[in-house]
Order: sequence, then C-alpha cells, then structure tokens
Amino acid sequence: MPRRILLDVDTGTDDALAILYALGHPELEVLGISCVAGNVPIDQVVINTCKVLDAAGATGIPVAAGAFQPLLESARRTGKSHGVDGLGGIRLPATSRQRSPLHAVELLHQLIMASTQRVTLVTLAPKTNVALLLTMYPEVATRLDHIIFMGGATAGGNVTALAEFNVWQDPEAAQCVIQSPVPITLYGLEAFSRPTVDRADADRFRAHGHSAVRLAGELLYRRRPRSEESNRYVGLLGDAGALILLTNPELFATGKFPVRVNLVGIGRGQTIIDQRPGPRDAAEPDLWPRIAVVVDLDIAQVASAFVKTIEGYAS
Ligand code: BDR
Ligand code: CA
Repeated sequence: MPRRILLDVDTGTDDALAILYALGHPELEVLGISCVAGNVPIDQVVINTCKVLDAAGATGIPVAAGAFQPLLESARRTGKSHGVDGLGGIRLPATSRQRSPLHAVELLHQLIMASTQRVTLVTLAPKTNVALLLTMYPEVATRLDHIIFMGGATAGGNVTALAEFNVWQDPEAAQCVIQSPVPITLYGLEAFSRPTVDRADADRFRAHGHSAVRLAGELLYRRRPRSEESNRYVGLLGDAGALILLTNPELFATGKFPVRVNLVGIGRGQTIIDQRPGPRDAAEPDLWPRIAVVVDLDIAQVASAFVKTIEGYAS
C-alpha cells in the first residue's frame, strides 16, 4: 500500500520538482496540497501548484490556499531565484483547476482525520500552515506518523548569513513545529544544496512527449548551481530531495540533535542545531527538542532516484 502524504508548499521551482516526484512515485499517494505564501504570494502559489498538477495529469488531489503571511510579520520576498512568477517564467497553459473552498489548515485537518492510515506531512515552505494546524487541532499529532521539515541549516544560511529561507520567513511557526510531539526529520540547507541532475538527463526531459517530464526538464534548467561544475550539471533538486528522503531513506544519514530557532536580534530565523558531543545541560529542554537532522546523503543515488521516477511518467 502506498504511503499517504500531504504536501505543504510555496511553489517555487523546486517545490514544483518535489510535487512532480511525489505524483510520479508509485509508493506515494498524495492526499492533498496546502499552499502558503513564501517564494511568491499565496494566490501565485496556488496557481503554480495547479499548473504542476495539470502537467502531471493528476486528478482528485485538492489544493487549498493557506496563510498569506507569517504569524507575526508581513511576508517578505527575497525574490530572484524562482523568477517573478515562482516558476522561472516557464510558459505553461492557464489552469482551469478549482482550488478547494477550504482554508489549507482545514483541508489538512480533514484529510488527516479522515485517513484510515497514519499520514506523513512533508513541509517544503514557511511553516505557518503547519504551526496553525498543530495549534488549532492538536489531535492531528496522533494521526501523523512523521513530519519531513525542509528548512534550517547546520552552518550558514541562504537569506542571511545565519538563516535559511523557510525558517527565516516565519521563525515562530518553525519553532512551534519543532516543538510538536510528532517525529520530525529536518532536511536542511546542506542536504538541499547538494544533489543535482545531469545536464544530459535534463535535456532528454525537455524534449519528452509527456508534459510532466518536459516540465521537470524546464524546471531543472532554471535551477543551475552556482558552482564550478555548472557546465555539466543543471538542476539542483532542492525541495525534491526531501521527498526522496521519504522513498529512499537508505540514501541518507541522520543524527539526533537538540534544535531551536533563534527568534531575536541579528540571528533571527537561524536554526540552531547543537551538534556538540555528549550530554547537554540546556536550561530549557522543552525549547530544544532532539530531532533527526539529515547530516549526509548519497548525492549521485539521490539524483538517480529522481530521474528514475520522472522517467516513470512515460511508462
Ligand atoms: C527553501 O526556500 C525556497 O526558496 C525553496 O523552495 C526551499 O523550500 C530553501 O531555503
Ligand atoms: Ca519551497
């Protein structure tokens, strides 16, 4: 039986790759998608998500709009990496897909409580929707088997010297999710930034007859790593890697560490991951839950897993 998952996204080029991967993987069943403001404003996130579902030919997957801004602050766009529309300007047909009439938090709650199996929540965006869900409906904690949390960084950040975008956008929400009783695995910036797809695969995808495969190729071309290898590699998988963690856990190494979000001052939005060996004497242990953090991954095999799943659309 496939694993039932919910996706929480701010579709962006890499969220789009993650959605295509999830929809194309035979061991995953996507029950629904909640959208949150992040890479682009909420209405654009919903449009982008619907266009990705259209390209994949997906039916029966509700898409709902959620929080339009973080819990305490206004939404901030850092802007450039996903283009103005969030999908790097890829030309896609207009969507006629109807969004769910429910708020994303209500949709998540209903789908979790209605599922006969426990559900995995994969959050690839600022954590506002998920924090609201866990706060408004604490009963979901016993119905979720796991939260995959894309966000945070063990070393430097990407929006500030210290902070990763998803956590920086809504630090209070991120801390709320980290403190939830649901088992969490943090897929942070170090893992996020490593797997890339070979240019030859992306070229083959771009010329493909299936719209999902073609879209994956176009998206990969808009995700060039800023490294010396950028002539050979085009597509940073980014958020999509967090889905591969779910389908291929053997490709990843994790460690359990106390984690806390810095909410103040110059370090606001930083995810502090205490990797010191030995016992800690944290003064406020509730604020430093020990959660699993991805510390290493087999980048070549992760890329292969992605390519194989996208190729599956053609069969
Ligand atoms: C995260 O920020 C967004 O731009 C990406 O979609 C990803 O979820 C990485 O910091
Ligand atoms: Ca994202």
